[in-house]
Amino acid sequence: MTRTEIGWISTVVVLFIVVNFLSITYMPMSRTATAEKAAPVIQNVDVTARSWSYEISDREFEVGQPVRFSAKSADTMHGFTVYHPNGKILFSMMLIPGLEKPASLVYTFTEPGKYKVRCLEYCGIAHHGMQDELTVVKKDA
Ligand code: CUA
Repeated sequence: MTRTEIGWISTVVVLFIVVNFLSITYMPMSRTATAEKAAPVIQNVDVTARSWSYEISDREFEVGQPVRFSAKSADTMHGFTVYHPNGKILFSMMLIPGLEKPASLVYTFTEPGKYKVRCLEYCGIAHHGMQDELTVVKKDA
């Protein structure tokens, strides 16, 4: 290999490592750990998905209040994906049936509004209709 080739390969390897390190805080597990450390009070919400609806223990949340979503599937593979009112995906969980522990993720809503929930794992004939809604309200000052 020439010096130029070694130089380019080294640059790519270093960039790869740096970008991975810088993006760690954006990973759901990292965000969950940070939220758990920062907030003494986390609102716990249980989600059970089954063909083709969700059982959600609480559908109303407050702006700025961290919420721990513990979600599981009662039958087949489902998704639990929450959309911002503007249509952007905020987070998504894949719910695998038969697991001992539910999938868990902490999320803090920053704006009030109606947040759509959709299943993004194909789960049968009525998959497209598997939706729900969460409401986020502003806390009284
Ligand atoms: Cu549940 Cu698709």
